[in-house]
Amino acid sequence: MKLVFATHNQNKFQEVKLLFPPYIELLSLTDIECFDEIPETEDTIEGNAILKVAYVKENYDLDCFADDTGLEVRYLNGKPGVHSARYAGAGNNAKANMLKLLKNLEGVEDRSAVFKTVIALSLKNKVHLFTGICEGKIISTQRGNNGFGYDPVFQPSGYNQTFAEITSEEKGKISHRGKAIRQLIAYFLK
Ligand code: IMP
Repeated sequence: MKLVFATHNQNKFQEVKLLFPPYIELLSLTDIECFDEIPETEDTIEGNAILKVAYVKENYDLDCFADDTGLEVRYLNGKPGVHSARYAGAGNNAKANMLKLLKNLEGVEDRSAVFKTVIALSLKNKVHLFTGICEGKIISTQRGNNGFGYDPVFQPSGYNQTFAEITSEEKGKISHRGKAIRQLIAYFLK
């Protein structure tokens, strides 16, 4: 069967492709010649994941899945959440986003936060959702050079290192995205 992963991010695509059983032919947006920036205009992580698969279904009539991720900080009532990529303004400037987060948490004791990934799967006209959560806290200064986004300030529970101080293999075992993707794959294997 053919299945589209609605992403323009080739690193993400290759990483996920390796985990899929060989009888599923995974296609990227580039493979189906979709070069559009699919709108992410919903106000929830779930809503944006669903929006992306609905776009592919409507325009290409293909089975598809899409992911959306946000960092929810308890003291900030769940912000930046669905706006994680553009917390410091339009675009995805990871450094500026992190600095804004650290500023908003200056002197704050409760620094608990969760990363949440929702994967929407549109299969045979039905939509299924898979959610992966990783609990942790926001430390007060950046540490580590691996990963991307908020990784240098996010320390997962049970670890003394941030996501940016562990390898991508280690991160994949405990991360929000890793958990959501394993649920998606289990769905196809059952
Ligand atoms: P996306 O939905 O995967 O594009 O993620 C939205 C935003 O959340 C990204 O631009 C990053 O800033 C942040 N983000 C997502 N996943 C991670 C992660 O694993 N580590 C750090 N930041 C992340």
